[in-house]
Amino acid sequence: MSAPFLIGENMTGGYGAVDILHDCTLAVEPGEIAVIVGPNGAGKSTAMKAVFGMLKLRQGSVKLMGEDITSLSPQARVRKGMGFVPQTHNIFTGMTVEENLEMGAFIRQDDTIRDTMEQIYGLFPILKQKRYQKAGELSGGQRQQVAVGRALMTQPKVLMLDEPTAGVSPIVMDELFDRIIEIARTGISILMVEQNARQALDIADKGFVLVQGRNRYTDSGQALLADPDVRKSFLGG
Ligand SMILES: Nc1ncnc2c1ncn2[C@@H]1O[C@H](COP(=O)(O)OP(=O)(O)O)[C@@H](O)[C@H]1O
Ligand SMILES: [Mg+2]
Repeated sequence: MSAPFLIGENMTGGYGAVDILHDCTLAVEPGEIAVIVGPNGAGKSTAMKAVFGMLKLRQGSVKLMGEDITSLSPQARVRKGMGFVPQTHNIFTGMTVEENLEMGAFIRQDDTIRDTMEQIYGLFPILKQKRYQKAGELSGGQRQQVAVGRALMTQPKVLMLDEPTAGVSPIVMDELFDRIIEIARTGISILMVEQNARQALDIADKGFVLVQGRNRYTDSGQALLADPDVRKSFLGG
């Protein structure tokens, strides 16, 4: 077997002396949607931060295309092809939609940034309509589109999303999931935390159930949805 495309392997660490993650492993392959679910406080966001280099690991490693990137800064990981949409504060509310996208391209020096922006407007047409509006004036779902669009501006190989559908209606959630599927079909890997566990596992190639910083279940999205124990404990029956 070849090395996984992106893997946070046996990650142990936390915010100080106390470990939040315990031997936690997350991985995703090209074009695959991997979903992380679990109760509040399970360490899902912490695990995402660890994979993106925002948390110092006491043990374990992060590897991208076989290369050990454990000691790289988040910025350096962006240059390697990683994009991250954090759970909160993921847009500049005082800037326009287009300025947000421009900010997303901060590491790029080529002259095709405009083309990427048009692709993002193709994916999220409402953003083109509202491109000169302040991002803070948009609806919750539209803001999440700005956040995802901003991360796509670096043309990442892997897109990490922490609760992209937080606070949006079921219809808007479905629409966002459709766009996420569309992004994955272009070959980009998606590593995503979701509160809407059922719906997210339904579109997931692979799912990770985390509890107290540990891997509890790992399987295909469909297998997890069909597992009576997973259903009872994490999917409301
Ligand atoms: N910046 C932080 N400093 C200290 N503890 C934190 C910090 N962020 C989260 N925690 C703690 O880490 C644990 C896991 O939190 P988090 O990763 O946000 O969980 P989840 O995303 O699964 O809801 C919780 O006990 C939380 O209180
Ligand atoms: Mg979280």
